[in-house]
Amino acid sequence: MAKLWAGRSSGQTAQAADDFNSSIRFDSRMFREDIRGSMAHARMLGAQGILDPAEAEGLVLGLSGILRDLESGALSIDPTAEDIHMFVEQVLTERLGELGKKLHTARSRNDQVALDLRMYLRRETDEISALLRELLAALCTLAEAHKAVILPGYTHLQRAQPVTFGHHLLAYAMMLLRDLDRLADCRKRINLSPIGCCALAGTTFDTDRRMEAAELGFDGVALNSLDGVSDRDFCVELLAALSLVMAHLSRFSEELILWSSWEFRFVELSEDYTTGSSIMPQKKNPDMAELCRGKTGRVYGDLLALLTVLKGLPLAYNKDLQEDKEAVFDACDTVRACLGVMTPMLAGMRVRADRMLAAAREGFINATDLADYLVGKGLPFRSAYKVSGELVAECSRRGCVLETLPLEVYRSFCPEIDAGVYEAVDLGNCVARRKSLGGTSVDNVEAQLAFVREKLNG
Ligand code: ARG
Repeated sequence: MAKLWAGRSSGQTAQAADDFNSSIRFDSRMFREDIRGSMAHARMLGAQGILDPAEAEGLVLGLSGILRDLESGALSIDPTAEDIHMFVEQVLTERLGELGKKLHTARSRNDQVALDLRMYLRRETDEISALLRELLAALCTLAEAHKAVILPGYTHLQRAQPVTFGHHLLAYAMMLLRDLDRLADCRKRINLSPIGCCALAGTTFDTDRRMEAAELGFDGVALNSLDGVSDRDFCVELLAALSLVMAHLSRFSEELILWSSWEFRFVELSEDYTTGSSIMPQKKNPDMAELCRGKTGRVYGDLLALLTVLKGLPLAYNKDLQEDKEAVFDACDTVRACLGVMTPMLAGMRVRADRMLAAAREGFINATDLADYLVGKGLPFRSAYKVSGELVAECSRRGCVLETLPLEVYRSFCPEIDAGVYEAVDLGNCVARRKSLGGTSVDNVEAQLAFVREKLNG
């Protein structure tokens, strides 16, 4: 197929090479950004006298017609085009004749593609952040409703100490708040304009890069043209931020899967977000949570793929950089899809406070509290720890728990113990006394809720 870039060469390339080289099947999603970028470029060329103002206006009109026709479906993307930039320019030239050929003055596809990608990812970052906020709001609602529900906190997946469900959920809220921060920080570096860096070295035309950047909503411009066309750090940063979002969703998914198992039964996922088995009629499978956990691997893979593409690339643009888009697009699509099911799944989840409390009552998760009580009676912590352990073993032998072990048995192990011990090992008290900053007490959960909500509203 003959190319817009035919000149030195005939522009005739092998079909296999065209197919291999073409990026239209994935970069056509940037058509809006491409056209808006070109409109700003045409206006700048007109304002600077590089093109006649009437010519610039003609280009802008032609471009807005293409945008309108693509949006309405009157014009469809040619799947055999080399990329979205070539496609738009080709259609423009078909429609405007010689004038269309003037658009590419003082730019290159190298700065154009970097521009489109930054504009596209800026919007993705905003939309993913909005989805994260929705998930955070759902977490807050759930945490508020269950702020005093007691369940075992685990270490090594062994019952460890009592915590409130609100506290447990807000641990995820803290992770997601950091994700939001990371996205906002990364957006600052996405939002710098590369347009006008041209192929690699800038241009001999008297362009106004700042005007283009301002029109397109950028906070500033890339100050080195070689860097401007070859920097993909912003993609790596976004992929790293999205990888952490997925890490958090995956850990949460893992807990939802465990909690909804028959062994735990801490939660029941609603039927809208579970599936049945084709053979086992009793099953209610947590597929959505499993897929969120499974898709985490794709996003990590996208990050590693791009890091590997960048390693060893000489300055400035190399075609390897075309590989950036599939990685970031896949990661953005994946994160959006996961957030899209996670939020409603949480909102419709039934929390089994009774099952959580029943689990908390087994497993001696108040043994640390008993030791703390003994410290209050004057024992050094290590001795208190030992006595508490012996009392746990005694309960196991008797088939009871610390709450029901008779006082005389307690006293036979340690005469300092009095009836106050039952208050010390009461699970509600165990939680209420964990008032240390960031601890699991209900007051602290309320303070955390206020903090998260303020961050969300601020
Ligand atoms: N499709 C290319 C990409 O995605 C656009 C830039 C092409 N530049 C070039 N000099 N061939 O990177």
